[in-house]
Amino acid sequence: MNKNPVIVIISSSILFICLFVGCTKTNVNLQSKVTSGKEIFLRLADNQSEDYVTVRADREFAKIVEQKSNGRIKVDVYPAGQLGDEKDAIEQVQFGGIDFIRVSVSTLSVIDKEMGVLILPYIYRDQEHMFKVLDGPIGDNIITGLENFKLTGLCWFDAGARNFYNTKKDIVTPDDLKGLKIRVQENKIMIDMVNALGALPTPMTYGEVYRALQIGVIDGAENNWLSYISSNHYEVAKHITIVEHVRIPEMIVASKISMDNLSKDDQKIIKEAAKEAAKYQRQEWLKDEEEAKKKTADKGVFITKLQTNKTFQEKVKPLYETYGKDYQDLIQSIINTNK
Ligand code: GCU
Repeated sequence: MNKNPVIVIISSSILFICLFVGCTKTNVNLQSKVTSGKEIFLRLADNQSEDYVTVRADREFAKIVEQKSNGRIKVDVYPAGQLGDEKDAIEQVQFGGIDFIRVSVSTLSVIDKEMGVLILPYIYRDQEHMFKVLDGPIGDNIITGLENFKLTGLCWFDAGARNFYNTKKDIVTPDDLKGLKIRVQENKIMIDMVNALGALPTPMTYGEVYRALQIGVIDGAENNWLSYISSNHYEVAKHITIVEHVRIPEMIVASKISMDNLSKDDQKIIKEAAKEAAKYQRQEWLKDEEEAKKKTADKGVFITKLQTNKTFQEKVKPLYETYGKDYQDLIQSIINTNK
C-alpha cells in the first residue's frame, strides 16, 4: 500500500489529538463520578415557613449530618411547601423522589392506620405524657411499622396542642361551633372529630387556609399556637378558644428507598442527627409557643379560656369506637404509660 507521508502525519496527529482529548475527557468524567460518589446530596421537604421552629430544626439536622459526615452528606432543606403540600410530598418520599420530610402525624396516619391512635382527641394527658409514649416502646413500634409503607421514621417533634379559632364569635361550648365551616386536615379522623363537635368540616391543605378564611370559604380552623400566628391566621380569625382537643406530634421521616441506598454507617449518622435535632426542636418549641401567645396580646385576638373542656371531651368519645376498636391494646398501653 502506498502511504503518503503527509497524510500519515496528519492522520496520526488527528488520532493523537482524539486519543488525548478522549483520555482527558474520560479522566474528567471519572473524576466527577468519584466526587459525586463521595458526596451525597439529599432533599428535605417542610411545609412551614423559613423561620418556623420545624424548619430551624430541619436545618439543625442538616448541619449535624454534615458535621458527622465531615462535609460528605449534604441535606438541602426546602421550606414553605416548595416540594408540594404534605400529602403529595409524602408520596414522593415513599417513592424516593424526596429523601426526607418533616410531617404532621395526621398526614402519616392516612397511610398507616395504626398511627391514627396517636392523634385521637385527648389521648395524652399533657406534653410530657405524649413524649413518654413516643420516646418509649410504643413510639419505637410505630416507627418499625412505618417501614411497611416505605418510610423510615427518624424522630418525634413537638407541635403543642391544637385549638379552634374562627372569624365570627367566641366559642364556649360545642354548641357554639354548630354550623361553622371549620377547615380540617385531609384526614377522616379530623373530619369525624369536627363533625362530632357539631361543626361542618372542610378539608383542605394548610397552605390554602389563610385565603379561605379571608374570603369566607371557611369560618374557622384548628391548629397549634405557632401555626395560628406564623401563618397569620390570627389576622382574619380573631376568636380563639383553648380547647386543646388534640396533640398531633410531628416527625422527620426518611424515604426507605433513600436510606437503603446509604451505607450502614451513613444511616447511623442520619438517625443520630435526627435525634439530636429533635432535642433542639422540643426546647425551641416551648420558647416559641410562649412568644406566640404573648404576640396575640397586642393583635386584638379574643382568647376564650374554658373552665373545663369536659363537654368537648364527651362529644369526641365516639372516635375511640370508630378508630380505636382495632387498637384497644395500644390505646390502653398509651393510657397506662406513666410520666
Ligand atoms: C401544623 C403542622 C403542619 C400541618 C398543619 C395542618 O401546622 O406543622 O405540618 O400541615 O398543622 O394543619 O395541616
